[in-house]
Order: sequence, then structure tokens, then C-alpha cells
Amino acid sequence: MLDHLKETDYGTPKRESEQEVTLEIDGNQVTVPKGTSLMRAAVDAGIQVPKLCATDSLEPFGSCRLCLVEIDGRKGYPASCTTPAEPGMKVRTQSPKLQELRKGVMELYISDHPLDCLTCSANGNCELQDMAGVTGLRNVRYGFDGANHLKAEKDESNPYFTYDASKCIVCNRCVRACEETQGTFALTISGRGFESRVSPGMDEPFMESECVSCGACVEACPTATLQEKSVIWLGQPEHSKITTCAYCGVGCGFKAEMKGNEVVRMVPWKDGAANEGHSCVKGRFAWGYATHSDRITTPMIRKKITDPWQAVSWEEAIAYAASEFKRIQAKYGRDSIGGIVSSRCTNEEGYLVQKLVRAAFGNNNVDTCARVCHSPTGYGLKQTLGESAGTQTFKSVEKSDVILVMGANPTDGHPVFASRMKKRLREGAKLIVIDPRKIDIVKSPHIKAEYHLQLRPGTNVAVVTALAHVIATEGLMADEYIDERCDNKSFREWREFVSRPENSPEATEAITGVPAADMRAAARLYATGGNAAIYYGLGVTEHSQGSTTVMGIANLAMATGNVGREGVGVNPLRGQNNVQGSCDIGSFPHELPGYRHVSDTTVRNEFEAAWGVSLQSEPGLRIPNMFDAAIDGSFMGLYCEGEDIVQSDPDTQHVAHALEAMECIVVQDLFLNETAKYAHVFLPGSSFLEKDGTFTNAERRISRVRKVMPPAAKYADWEVTVMLSNALGYPMSYKHPKEIMAEIAALTPSFSGVSYELIEKLGSVQWPCNAAAPNGTPTMHIDHFVRGKGKFIITQYVASDEKVTRKFPLILTTGRILSQYNVGAQTRRTDNNQWHSEDRLEIHPVDAEDRGIQDGDWVGIQSRAGDTVLRAIVSERMQPGVVYTTFHFPESGANVITTDNSDWATNCPEYKVTAVQVMPVSQPSEWQREFSRFDKVQAELLEQRHAAEAVTGK
Ligand code: SF4
Ligand code: SF4
Ligand code: SF4
Ligand code: FES
Repeated sequence: MLDHLKETDYGTPKRESEQEVTLEIDGNQVTVPKGTSLMRAAVDAGIQVPKLCATDSLEPFGSCRLCLVEIDGRKGYPASCTTPAEPGMKVRTQSPKLQELRKGVMELYISDHPLDCLTCSANGNCELQDMAGVTGLRNVRYGFDGANHLKAEKDESNPYFTYDASKCIVCNRCVRACEETQGTFALTISGRGFESRVSPGMDEPFMESECVSCGACVEACPTATLQEKSVIWLGQPEHSKITTCAYCGVGCGFKAEMKGNEVVRMVPWKDGAANEGHSCVKGRFAWGYATHSDRITTPMIRKKITDPWQAVSWEEAIAYAASEFKRIQAKYGRDSIGGIVSSRCTNEEGYLVQKLVRAAFGNNNVDTCARVCHSPTGYGLKQTLGESAGTQTFKSVEKSDVILVMGANPTDGHPVFASRMKKRLREGAKLIVIDPRKIDIVKSPHIKAEYHLQLRPGTNVAVVTALAHVIATEGLMADEYIDERCDNKSFREWREFVSRPENSPEATEAITGVPAADMRAAARLYATGGNAAIYYGLGVTEHSQGSTTVMGIANLAMATGNVGREGVGVNPLRGQNNVQGSCDIGSFPHELPGYRHVSDTTVRNEFEAAWGVSLQSEPGLRIPNMFDAAIDGSFMGLYCEGEDIVQSDPDTQHVAHALEAMECIVVQDLFLNETAKYAHVFLPGSSFLEKDGTFTNAERRISRVRKVMPPAAKYADWEVTVMLSNALGYPMSYKHPKEIMAEIAALTPSFSGVSYELIEKLGSVQWPCNAAAPNGTPTMHIDHFVRGKGKFIITQYVASDEKVTRKFPLILTTGRILSQYNVGAQTRRTDNNQWHSEDRLEIHPVDAEDRGIQDGDWVGIQSRAGDTVLRAIVSERMQPGVVYTTFHFPESGANVITTDNSDWATNCPEYKVTAVQVMPVSQPSEWQREFSRFDKVQAELLEQRHAAEAVTGK
């Protein structure tokens, strides 16, 4: 292995035990926790025992016989990977006999291995090669002419990695990685003895098997058998930097392995606390978008959206944007402009955008895409527990006895957490799933939910209240815990409310569609099954009663004493990489960093003193209010960083009309996204590989994003905001994002201990991080709730305005899929399209048959808001009456259909409930035809800029 990239491999996993054992290895005394293998104990003593089938991310297997040792008083040569350390043992890892035995093992391996080391893609990074060196193997006595596998065929079907069976040593590491780490069970060793070989599924190519391309097997393989294609093409990396995945809210740590300024591969970081060396197909392989030819790296301006783009210098673009914003404010007033920042941006970028809006624009019109996903989490958890964040670490699930997953599809949305959770379920924890669809975890290899409460979309509140009814009326509450830690008055009111007969499972069965007996049994299991943890996602929040359900979930956890220790808690699975962070650092119009209301004079005074401006005390406009105000003619300018509101926000036509009404839209992005097609200024953005900063994941964990290559368009996003602010006359002078974090820390009590130095030291840190918790807070609300006493809140079910009728008899609900991400701007520009190249409509066979729809047919989906056309997948995952689609492709127009209904407290859109009709059709919808026309026009206007550039030689 290339030394500079090498991490210590302890050979077998760490064991935890209160008992310790002391033994002697090669004359060194070493003390380890009981259960530790001799191999791992030897590494602790600074001794590497030769090994091939062992690695510290997997349970030992004992097949290669290379790690043999001698133990005083024992016969034979036990394998050090499978032999636990015992007190007083005297172990030798080196002796002439051991050397001879190991050499013999290596000879057998090498005699059936292509001797192409010098041209092999793994040269210098191959454990077999290393072991040949360690054992001193020079020649093979058996020759290379016997039966061998040297001509075995390669499987190149996966776009990201190759399986070259000729190099396989059948060590089983890949099979175990797929089972133990990933939990997919896609691989087996087929054949026996000499014929045995690794095979995906039923001896299929990888792409046709169950494989989800997580890369765990590739990471585990000690040879070049399973190898990243990027390594084969580019060669072995030369240097690396630790950074954080820019996709989902799990926040996996990665080692970006580089050759010069080029990424060779992204390797999941073993010390990344969120992922501990695991990954999914997005973070591991789908980073190619960062250097995709669609990226626009020159600033552009135009007066009208019907004009061709004009490529200009950064100075010109910034000066034009600033002058337009000033002109608009002079004409329409201070509040006529605002900013939107994406949760894909770093904390530092989000902080700067909200500062720019509040200090340079002089208003509070700043919002973030968390508005359309987890704003109800912020509101609901603050009201009940006192802090707008999840309560646990991901690792905490390893201590759960009951896991309740509601409105989340972790295997697709949060895959690395899903693998961790599945491992715990295989160990015996019980699972309750509350979801309208039969998602993967309801039944997958070695996992079966005890209860799947397959509710009707839009009835979450009725379900959580019915669960509470059972817990309250059957005496399943944690009385002492409630007495000690919760607000007594609110508890009594809540108990009286949930105990009413109309909230019983039997009374609400007709509304929720969940059999009362299942509801009762699930409630009993949650309340009495030991440590119970709730994980929830957008299926909870994106409803007209999203905030109410979040509060209902918190009520359940408090009532059963399931908050404040490991293994329990209330855990929102955040969608995007930095949803938590963008909310933390003040991107909402009503809150300054740290969730402090703008009307709080003391807090405002602090920011005014630090920023040298006076701040508005009234909340500014939320994203939907910005659209309404634009159509009314009072909101005329927008700075939109990293967000594609045209594709991601509901009621696309309404959003498009709002943007058409504005006079200056400045889009800062990697690509000419759907929103940029309505823009007047385009400022090239920088990918996560091109900048420094931090992301905060769903565990409140702040991790570093590190620049591994220079920004393609010269500036990182935070630098662009600085330039814009300076041009507007509000000076900013940061030299590095760490200075921005220092300012956040100085102004935000829950961040006061956070610094780049601390993150460097600890690897990552979970807020609150301050004098009371200098190394951060893994578990929240330990002795008491952040708000003091936990507050129960009444959760009255109110049916959505969106009702099924004869005209719209089905409910459409939306979600995501493993291989694509959000609006797809990144993943659509990678080979992930090979798994999912279009959005499809999932429909139950009964509904399909009623309408004469077959798998693959084009179907029209019509709602009160609009209509679109997709191809159908007929699937029993759906329940009758409910259809489902994803929204990763702009031409699908999923949000043309969604309505402008939203959460009563936060305006989070009700994406999950839209009444629709579905019919077979033969041509695209009118909206899709208009989309294609507009798309073509905008592509031509961009093309003309290219032509102009070529002519002028810019
Ligand atoms: S890539 Fe992941 S899912 Fe596929 S075979 Fe390897 S470990 Fe299993
Ligand atoms: S593919 Fe790699 S990890 Fe799997 S058995 Fe072969 S050599 Fe071992
Ligand atoms: S689970 Fe999420 S954070 Fe981890 S690699 Fe996948 S997309 Fe990235
Ligand atoms: S490493 Fe111990 S038997 Fe293979």
C-alpha cells in the first residue's frame, strides 16, 4: 500500500468490555479489552501479523491461514484473527516455522494469480503484493501451468468498479462487507474448493444483481479483483485530504484521494464518526459532476431573460448585480429584494448570505430550502423539547431495542444510516414502520418489520395521537420520568386529550386505514420494548400538519421516557447535507443564528454591535411569500445561492410566474439550472471539492469540508458573497472561512466553543459546543430538557384540504430514490443515471388495471394545480388509492402537480398529499411541451454566449 495513504488496519473490530486482559506478544506486555483478538492486540503492541482475509471493519473469518501464531503451552498454530486474547498468554508472531508456513500459503495464492503486478492498477496498493513481500516469497515451487483462473472473465457491468475474477483469492471479505457493513447480501461464494468464486446474486453481472453499488466490497477487497474504474483509468492516488460528502444529511466523512488536482477516488473515512468507513453510491462514486462539461465557469449577465447571455468579468457581473439591487430598492423600497441560500451550501456560506441580506440589503428577507423540508422539525422540537434538532448520534441506534421509522425511507434517502440500523435489527432490535408504501426495510434480507402501519397519506397526526391513546389509556407511560422532567399542566391536558374515545385506534381506523389491532400492538411495543428510538423524515414534515406530527412524535417519546440517553430519542433524518446547519446559522427570515428571534432586542443588539448596522425587528418574507409578493409587484430582486427553486418548490407554474415578474434574479450555481433560466445574472458556483467550510449533519455534527482543487471559476462561493456585499457598500473582509466560523461562534451561544482547530483535533463536533460542553454534545436533554420542562402539546387531527374526489380519486405522494439526489443537478450528471434515468409513477396493480395501465405505459397525472406525463411502474409497494413519484428530473414536472397547501406553522409545502387522476396517454402534457420549448430557447441563448466567446476569444 502506498505509505502516505495507509491507515492502520487492526485486523479485527474493536471490542468493548469492562474487563481487561494482559498478555505478552513477542515479549511485549499488552492490555486489551476482553474479547479482543490476538491480531488486534498485536497491533496495539506495534506488531503487524501478516493477514489477508481479516480487516478491522469485518468480523474475523479465519480462512487464509496467514496470520498463524505460536502460543506457549498450546499445540499447533492458531489463527491470530480468530483467537481471543487471554490473560497471561505468551504469543510469538515470528519464528522460522511460522515463516515457512506463511510462505507456503502465499505460494498457493500466487501460483493462481496473474503475475502482472507492475502493470496492475493496484500496484503499490495491494495486500497480496504486500504479503508476498512480508513472507519473503520469491519463487513459486508449483509453477503456473496447473489449473488456474487466469483467464476468468471480467465483469465490467457496474459503471464505477470492475470485478476481475482472475485476481480473486476467495478471501470472502467482499461477501462479508456486503452482509455485515452494507446489509444487502448481494454476494455469495459460488462453487466449491478450487472452483469457488465470488458471485453477485444468482451468478449475474453486478448490475443485474441486488447490488446497490455502495462500494463496501471494493473497499474490503485486498487485491485488484474489485477495483474502482477511476483508479484503473487514472492510476494510484498520490495524496489525500479528509472532507465531507456533499449529498445527504448523514454527513459521511471521505478521504478524497488525488493525483495532482484530479480526484482519483473518494474513500469512506474510517474515523468519520457518522459513517465509520462506510458509504453509499452517491458519496463514494457520484462526484464526477464537479468537473462536468456543463459547468459554467464564466460570470454572465443579461437585461431580459429573452436576451442571449453575455460573458463578463467577475468585476462586471458583481457590479451589475449590485447596481440592479440598489436600483430596485430605490424604486420599490428596502424590502423589495431578498436572498435564498441552499442547504447544499456550507455553514459559512449560509451565514454570509443571511448577513448580506440583513446587513447589506437591510431587511430580513432570507430563507433556505429547509423551508420546504424540515422547517416543521425546527418548530416542533423547539416547542416541545426546547431545541430545533435531533437528540442523538447515529451510533446511538446500536443501543436501541425498538426502532420506529416514520415517513422516511432510509435505504434510499440515508443509506449509510440505514446500514447501521439494519445491523442493529439483525442483532434483534424490533422494527415498526409507519409509511404509506411498503418500503424496503419493511421486508429485506434478514429483516422484517414487526408492524407496518400502512397509513393513508395525510393522516400522520391521527396515527401518532392514536398511538398516544394506547400508551396513555393502557398505563404504559413512564410516570416517574414525566413527573420529574415534564411540564405537569401540559401533560395532564395532553393525557386528557389523547385518552378521549375519538382518538382511539378503533375510532380513527376509518381515517388512517391502519387496523386498530396493529396500532395497539405497535404502541405497546414502542412503550414497553426497552430503548425505543424514533427516526422520521419528510413523510412527516411535508404536510399541512407537519409541525403537529413532529410535536406528536416528541409527545410519544416524552410520555414513554425515551429522550435523554443513548438508544432512544427523536431523530429527524435530514434530507440534504447541510439542512441542519443552514437552519442553525440563521437562514430563516425570523431567526438570527442559533434560533433566536429577530424581535429579541438583546440578541439583535449583539448582532448590531458586531455588524455595525441596525437590524429589522420584524421577520422577513418566507420563500412562498417572496413568490406571492413578486406576483403582486412588491418583490423584484433575488439573490439565489445554490438552490433550484423552479424545480424543487411546489406549484411550478406559480414559481415561474413569480420569477418572470422580478426585475433582477442573481443565480449562483454550478450549472444553468431551471431557476437560472429565469436569471439576469449568473455567478459561477464552486463544488464542495473547491472550497473550505463546514457542513452540519442530522446529528448536529459539524464536519470540515476541505478544498482539494482550485475553484473552477476562480472563486469559492463565500468569496463571491463577500464581493457582492462589498459592491453593495457593506464591507466584508474575510480571508478564510475559519474567520466566518469564528464570528458565528462569537455570536451564537450553542456554537461558542466551535473552531476549525477543535474540529481538526476531534475530527468533528456536535453542537451545543461551549463552556458547558467543550467537546460537544452527542446526546441531548440528558438530565433535563433544553427548554426546562418538556412540554406536551395537543395534536388535534385536521384533515388536509386536499381531498380525493370523483375527479381526483388517488393520492399522489413524492419521495426520492437511492441513486439520485434532490433536483438531480449533481447525480444526473453522473453514471448514477444507469440506475434511474427518469422519474416514474408507481401505481398499485388494482388502480392500474382499473385504468388499463400496464408497466411502462405513459400516463397522465392530473391535479388541481396542473398535469404532467410519466411512465408507470405497476408495483405492490403501493397501497390501492395511492400513487408515488420522485422529482429528480426537471422534465418530469412532479411539482407542476403539487399544490400550494402548506404546514400551518412553517409553510413547509404539502408535497406528500396531492389528489390526482391518472390515465393512459400518448403524448407529453402541455406543460412539458412548454418546458421543452423554453429549455431549448434558453439553451440557444447560452449557446450564443459560447459563440460570442469564441468570436471575441474570451
Ligand atoms: S457494492 Fe455494496 S451492495 Fe454491491 S456487492 Fe458490493 S457491498 Fe454489496
Ligand atoms: S473479490 Fe476480493 S474481497 Fe472478494 S473474495 Fe475475491 S479477493 Fe477477496
Ligand atoms: S449516505 Fe449520504 S452522506 Fe453518506 S455517502 Fe451516501 S449520500 Fe453521502
Ligand atoms: S487473516 Fe487470519 S486467517 Fe486470514
